[in-house]
Amino acid sequence: METDEQREEYDKLRRRVLWTMPYGLYVVGSTDHHAERNFMTLNWATQMSFEPKLLGIGVEKQSLTHRLITQGRAFSLCTVAREDRAIVRKFTKPVEVDLTAMTLNGFPFHDGTSGAPILDQAPGFLDCTVRQDVDAGNHTFFIGEIVDAGFQADEATPVLRMEDTRMNYGG
Ligand SMILES: Cc1cc2nc3c(=O)[nH]c(=O)nc-3n(C[C@H](O)[C@H](O)[C@H](O)COP(=O)(O)O)c2cc1C
Repeated sequence: METDEQREEYDKLRRRVLWTMPYGLYVVGSTDHHAERNFMTLNWATQMSFEPKLLGIGVEKQSLTHRLITQGRAFSLCTVAREDRAIVRKFTKPVEVDLTAMTLNGFPFHDGTSGAPILDQAPGFLDCTVRQDVDAGNHTFFIGEIVDAGFQADEATPVLRMEDTRMNYGG
């Protein structure tokens, strides 16, 4: 029989293996289509299909972003310039919305085609409307269809990946 110690050892080992998975790092925009907007740092993102163009993101059920995507049926996935890496620490809890200045935590944004906010300083963005909510433990995997995409900086701008930071999410 497995002892508690063996189980703990395996938990630690599994976490270390999970941490070696390569990821990008993004800012996700969400809205209720009224006064609420949010930006959240996220690395669980992937393209899902060529036709239609589907994109999936894993969002914690307890988060504000989860509530807004569930209500608003939309999200944006914004890339982050490698030199802007400090930004990801600004979006780990609900933001301060200023609809007069059109800023979230002081960062200028505009509303995309889907209605979700897009970070103005993101080198690129993918704007999605939700097609499916897949229940996944303590997260929901939201699958969205891309309704708009664009560059807002030079296409060659190096984008941030998890490995450029000392952060982890997962494990
Ligand atoms: C490096 C990093 C990666 C993260 N990746 C995810 C992710 O993939 N999914 C997720 O739900 N939260 C992720 N988070 C946590 C969220 O950024 C955030 O703390 C939390 O979900 C609350 O967001 P809220 O403002 O929507 O309430 C990550 C945090 C960090 C620092």
